[in-house]
Amino acid sequence: MSTSQPPVFGIIGAGFIGSIHLEALKAAGFRVAAIADPFPAALEKAKHLAPDARLYADWKELLADPEVTAVNVCTINSLHFEILSAAIASGRHVFCEKTMTVNAAQAREALALSPAPEQVVQIGYMKRFFPASKWMKDHLPEIGKPLCATVRSFQGGFVEDGETIYNSPDWRPGPNGVSRTRTFASGGMLNMAGSHMLDMTAWLLGKPEAITCRTWSPEGYDAEMHAHGLFEMANDVLVHFEACLAPYHGTGVFGDGWDEFIQIDGTKGRIEIYYPRWDRPKDFSVKCRLYREAQRTWEEPEFERVNVFQLEFEAFAKCCATGQSAQPSIREAALIDFWIDACYESARTRQTAPLPA
Ligand SMILES: NC(=O)c1ccc[n+]([C@@H]2O[C@H](COP(=O)([O-])OP(=O)(O)OC[C@H]3O[C@@H](n4cnc5c(N)ncnc54)[C@H](O)[C@@H]3O)[C@@H](O)[C@H]2O)c1
Repeated sequence: MSTSQPPVFGIIGAGFIGSIHLEALKAAGFRVAAIADPFPAALEKAKHLAPDARLYADWKELLADPEVTAVNVCTINSLHFEILSAAIASGRHVFCEKTMTVNAAQAREALALSPAPEQVVQIGYMKRFFPASKWMKDHLPEIGKPLCATVRSFQGGFVEDGETIYNSPDWRPGPNGVSRTRTFASGGMLNMAGSHMLDMTAWLLGKPEAITCRTWSPEGYDAEMHAHGLFEMANDVLVHFEACLAPYHGTGVFGDGWDEFIQIDGTKGRIEIYYPRWDRPKDFSVKCRLYREAQRTWEEPEFERVNVFQLEFEAFAKCCATGQSAQPSIREAALIDFWIDACYESARTRQTAPLPA
């Protein structure tokens, strides 16, 4: 299906990320021909952003739209796998937001999906597409053998105050026995900001072999608000990990409550990266710096502000045009789903868990 024609997108799920994708696709010059969402208010909002898109209440109708050549899955996590499977079966290229699935069993099923060789399937871990992320990966060999890493995502700046987040109805089971947070993310901070940082860790340092994790939430919550991990990687690197929702508004390197970074220490130096808030990527440029022990100096390159979602769609479209396989792939996204599952297993048993096979 590789073609010189750019992909024509159909977006399934017109919520928060659906609108951000729509803006990014428009900024990159791609056509969005159709949008599906069962909620009229969501479709109404999308209609303002893409007045000539056809609107569907049922995503299956969008899959039958003949103009759509690329399906963009932006629904809540629990619907991803069903829609991803159907979209692959429809023969179209597929972009699917993270997390790809909601547990290891479903991730195993996803690994059994068989897109045609020319069909492009990409999962939405967009942090890799920041030029600063690429710079970090390219310069990683300069720190020598990596020994340990600290990976942190303290997600602040979104919430009113401590009293609200530590006593939130959104995180407590409602009348149907499940909280809004769990319905939306199928988990807590591991699935939300944490999954992105696990993807970056895998991209930079490979797979974990042994996973120790503890989680915490205020009494009565059904999704973790804090997750703390120690990961023993296959290359002997030890990774300290934390993904937490925080009540702060002025912390982090950008001073807006978003406190997300990776630091890797090696035998010859250290490399660090600091990410801005995911929903305002153009407000700040990513910061990266490299310390070389031989010179005892820091290098701090300047990076332009970018819309990283636009960059990830441009990469996706390039794969559609050339027939190259896309990254992150189903296999790479399944690793994250296995990893999260093992974190929950470790937290539940209070034992170290292996990465599920
Ligand atoms: N890459 C990122 O940085 C990032 C950031 C935020 C969210 N996400 C991911 O995006 C996804 C959606 O998150 P969100 O914040 O936009 O949530 P949201 O609740 O704002 O949007 C989800 C949308 O899906 C729609 N929906 C529900 N059932 C549907 C169905 N059967 N068919 C079609 N649409 C349906 C809802 O009406 C809603 O409009 C999640 O998987 C989340 O993990 C990724």
